[in-house]
Amino acid sequence: MSKMTAPKVKARKGGDKLTMITAYDYPTAQIVDRAGAEIILVGDSVANVVLGYDATIQVTLDVMIHHTAAVARAKPNGLIVGDMPWLSYHTSVKDTVHNAGRLVREGGAEAVKLEGGHKRLDMIEAVMHAEIPVMGHLGLTPQSVHAMGGYKVQGKQAAAAYELLSDAHALADAGVFAIVLEGVPDVLAEIVTNEIDVPTIGIGAGVHCDGQVLVLHDLLGLGGGEYLPKFVRQYAQLADDAVSAVEQYFADIRSGDFPGEDETYHMPAASAEILQELVAAPGNPDRKRGGDHLMADEAMER
Ligand code: KIV
Repeated sequence: MSKMTAPKVKARKGGDKLTMITAYDYPTAQIVDRAGAEIILVGDSVANVVLGYDATIQVTLDVMIHHTAAVARAKPNGLIVGDMPWLSYHTSVKDTVHNAGRLVREGGAEAVKLEGGHKRLDMIEAVMHAEIPVMGHLGLTPQSVHAMGGYKVQGKQAAAAYELLSDAHALADAGVFAIVLEGVPDVLAEIVTNEIDVPTIGIGAGVHCDGQVLVLHDLLGLGGGEYLPKFVRQYAQLADDAVSAVEQYFADIRSGDFPGEDETYHMPAASAEILQELVAAPGNPDRKRGGDHLMADEAMER
């Protein structure tokens, strides 16, 4: 796959489905890149699935830059989207542009994502004026957990659904290159997808979106068994596999099976012989000379 860019994502509207997934560090970026991810989101879900917080609002811009930079060092072909954390784009237009710029300059993000519709238009437009592509995010926006009164499916009533549609139009008209629709009824996602001219990427939004995104740790079964939303499909149970592997390692230590021959360094026979002589005759005046000889041997082996 050639390098994905924001304009290429936008041009895929109505075409082949877009594949998007989260990654938070160098090895997970390599994994999703090898699998062919077209969009890699360094999501603020890092707060939950990597850092053990119970909400995304705990994560700061510095933490997001730290994780985005690790993903960028993997040089993936997928477009790297850095998630703007809570309060990094809420206080002023100037701070928003500065913070988005830090995600790009220090973190290596190639686009940023931020949550909200009309309310955030000034900020979104200013970031795009600074030549940074923006991905929108509507519906169940986790940074609004307290305002929403919990993680609840959004747009279930006609009025709320209509408002979300209007937000989607506003974002598309402003020039975002894609919009994540999270936790909304499939019929609403379908209407939004049909009406706006930028790709929609669904997570808990049904099958009609132009693409789909999931949190990597959820689909790999890498969590600690916490609650998983209804929309997650698990493709592996890596946490269980990892526990079994570590248990086997401990069992091998206890039984003496680890380390084996292949995992052990050996000394040249001549050096071993000198060592044995030195150990057998600790008062030997040659001990100092022999000791030097052994140290030289060891240095060579490393
Ligand atoms: O942070 C994240 O992982 C996200 C996705 C759920 C879209 O925003």
